[in-house]
Amino acid sequence: MKIVVTGGLGFIGSHTVVELQNEGFKVIIVDNLSNSKIEVLNQITSITGIKPQFEQFDLLDKERVNTLFNNNKIAGIIHFAASKAVGESVEKPLLYYQNNLGSLLNVLDAMLATKQDHLIFSSSCTVYGQADQMPITENAPRKDAESPYGNTKKIAEDILLDTTNAYKYNAIALRYFNPIGAHPSAKIGELPIGIPQNLIPYVTQTAAGIRKELAVFGADYPTPDGTAIRDYIHVVDLAKAHIVALKRLIEKKNKTNLEFFNIGTGKGSSVLDVIKAFENSTKKKLNYKIVARREGDITEAYADTTLANTELGWKAEKSLENALYDAWQWQLKQ
Ligand code: WQD
Repeated sequence: MKIVVTGGLGFIGSHTVVELQNEGFKVIIVDNLSNSKIEVLNQITSITGIKPQFEQFDLLDKERVNTLFNNNKIAGIIHFAASKAVGESVEKPLLYYQNNLGSLLNVLDAMLATKQDHLIFSSSCTVYGQADQMPITENAPRKDAESPYGNTKKIAEDILLDTTNAYKYNAIALRYFNPIGAHPSAKIGELPIGIPQNLIPYVTQTAAGIRKELAVFGADYPTPDGTAIRDYIHVVDLAKAHIVALKRLIEKKNKTNLEFFNIGTGKGSSVLDVIKAFENSTKKKLNYKIVARREGDITEAYADTTLANTELGWKAEKSLENALYDAWQWQLKQ
């Protein structure tokens, strides 16, 4: 069974390709290398022993997308490809709307034109904004986006709602919480370009001496230790959720044409919790200082994983310490 994985050389994409190959699927990666490196293809191959088919093109190139869908019998599509830097999206909103929504529309057009089905969409807990209550369920109201990036996820979900309704194809949107860590082989992991925006790459680069110290963005939040709380999920657990969701569609076990699942651990960890867990799991001391809050950050977000656990039949297995250890092993390889 051939599965198209767009953005398959990216952080979550590459880990998902490994799990797909482990499950015996044939993978076609589509990536334009705008935010990933071709070396990742060889690393995936060295982990699984199987070289995925790789097509290098931009999903905004409608011609190429249609040719791919016309030339292959595709059992499912996992759509990761998108620009995802929150800060950059504020400076370049047009790029984000064009890229993130244009790519999705081209994939949907090609799917429907070739009557191929089973889309797994990479969504984000960012659609909840600061949710009113914790843990966050899939029925929590979506809030106004904090950034154009977050808005592209919300609009993409609306596109899926309307199009699955009209054309009766089958899709699952996975709302990720905070993906962290790396493959235990330390052959693939997060490759932030420039100064890391996300917490964990900044932590590991500080521990590696690449950054002088970690700036903790605010210790005056209404949380037990004053720092903001997130649900950090190991990227391998997250990757496995995609396989479970894909099989659900292929085996026609989905209950409606579009389903949403929160993919997190169900556990909230503060920034200081993460620092402590990192030091415990790696025995590395971390230099950090408390600074002002980052504009646009929310106080708290962690998932209610009941639906994913009971309906989807998936549960995160790896701990925060394990994810931080794997992130550190990956950093040591850079
Ligand atoms: C986590 C916590 C920061 C860096 C973003 C996107 C979300 C998703 C994941 C794509 C926050 C604090 C961070 C630092 C810090 N991306 N922090 N010092 O903001 O929860 O989510 O990435 O889908 O859509 O919004 O993740 O890793 O940036 O921050 O104190 O140097 O760490 O304030 O509390 P975030 P993050």
